[in-house]
Amino acid sequence: MLKTPLFITNFKNYEQAIGKNAIKLALAHQQVAEDTGASIAIAVNAIDLQAVSEAVSIPVFAQHVDAVDFGSFTGSILPQALKRAGAIGSLLNHSEKRLDIETLTNALACAQKSSLMRILCTESPEEAEKLVQLDPDFLAFEPPELIGSSTKSVSSESPESIAKVVALSSGIPVIVGAGINKPEDIKIALKLGASGFLVASAIVKSKNPTKALKDFIDAF
Ligand code: G3P
Repeated sequence: MLKTPLFITNFKNYEQAIGKNAIKLALAHQQVAEDTGASIAIAVNAIDLQAVSEAVSIPVFAQHVDAVDFGSFTGSILPQALKRAGAIGSLLNHSEKRLDIETLTNALACAQKSSLMRILCTESPEEAEKLVQLDPDFLAFEPPELIGSSTKSVSSESPESIAKVVALSSGIPVIVGAGINKPEDIKIALKLGASGFLVASAIVKSKNPTKALKDFIDAF
């Protein structure tokens, strides 16, 4: 298990986080991890995953994994291929890549078979209550309406829902995200029991991603 609090930057498919930019951004994360000793990971797109994993030693997650095994599954993201490319785990059911419950159950099992850590995303406390039964390694709570906001975050707008998800998580560590844009957001969520953070735009789109990341980490 990774050390908590865990800070994960989701590179999504932002232009600033693709190809050579992905490697540059990953190296910036590694530098901050080395300078601060904080637990920092990244979630990169499947195409860049191998190159990024070879360039850094911090944990690298995939952003999605399909419920498939070796075989005739054209176009699918194979868990074994992610593992061999250097992924430590994967996000599943991100708001931008939702899965129905049956597919999700199968994808979690396939990921586990490949020893991939599973970060299961949920949009609400109600959904979290159901998804806890699937026993992921982490639950990631992100209210979709706040994703990408630079002024409103899950911590500022919905602290009570963070507390609810933590309370019903049966000990599964809860990562929070959506609109996290200032160190205060981190402090609030930590007080409410969050074990980590999933952040994208505030770092990837920043003019100075290293400083943006350091400012968040200082709040630990
Ligand atoms: O997975 C992270 C995410 O969806 C939050 O995005 O841009 O609101 O930090 P953002």
